[in-house]
Amino acid sequence: MYGLVNQAVREMVLTHFGEEKWEAIREKAGTDDVFIAMDQYPDDVTVGLVGSACAVLGAQPAQVLEAFGEYWVDFTGRTYGELFEMSGSSFVEFVKNLNDLHTRVEMMMPDLAPPSFIVIDEVPGEFKLQYHSKRDGLHPMILGLVRGLGKRFGTKVDIVRLRGKEDGLSYDEFLVKHQPA
Ligand code: HEM
Repeated sequence: MYGLVNQAVREMVLTHFGEEKWEAIREKAGTDDVFIAMDQYPDDVTVGLVGSACAVLGAQPAQVLEAFGEYWVDFTGRTYGELFEMSGSSFVEFVKNLNDLHTRVEMMMPDLAPPSFIVIDEVPGEFKLQYHSKRDGLHPMILGLVRGLGKRFGTKVDIVRLRGKEDGLSYDEFLVKHQPA
C-alpha cells in the first residue's frame, strides 16, 4: 500500500496515545519512523503495524481497524480536502461516489489497488453496501469509515455487517441505515 496509509496509522497512534506508544509499536513492527506518502510499501508493513498496535495497546485487530477507518476519513479529509469536496455533498451521494474518488486518486497513485463499493437495495433511510477488495480481513475498517462519513455529513448512521467472505462470497455486505442527525 502507499505510504500515505502508514502515515495515517502513525498519526492516529501519536494523536491518541502519544510518542512512547508509537515508538513501542513501530519498534515491535520493525518499521521506519517516517513513511513517504507516494512510495509503495508491502501490505505486510501495514499489517505489522496493526498487529503491533494490538499487542502494545491491548486491543483486538477489529477494534484497531475500525478506529483506523474513522481516522482515515478525518486524515484524508484534511490532506486531500479538494477530492472530498468533489465527491458529494451528502452522506449517500458520497458513498455512491467512492469508486470515482479512488479513480481520481489513481491518477496521482498509479499503482493503487483500491477497493470498490456497490450500493444495492436502496430505499429511503437505508441501503446495502457491498465492499470488494483484493485484500482480506479489512472489513472492520468499513464500519469506521462509514460512521466517519456519517459524522462528516451530520448524518446519523447505523451499520452492521451482514455476510462476507466466510460465507463463500467474494465481497463483504453491510446494511446501512441513515438519517439526518
Ligand atoms: C481523498 C480521500 C482518499 C484517498 C486519497 C484514499 C486513498 C487510498 C489509498 C492510498 C489506499 C491504499 C491502497 C493502495 O495503496 O493500494 C486506500 C485504500 C482504501 N480506501 Fe481510500 N482513499 C480516500 C478516501 C476513502 C474513503 C472516504 C473511504 C471510505 C469508504 C475509503 C476506503 C478505502 C478502503 C476500504 C481501502 C482499503 C483497500 C482495500 O480494501 O484493498 N477511502 N485509499
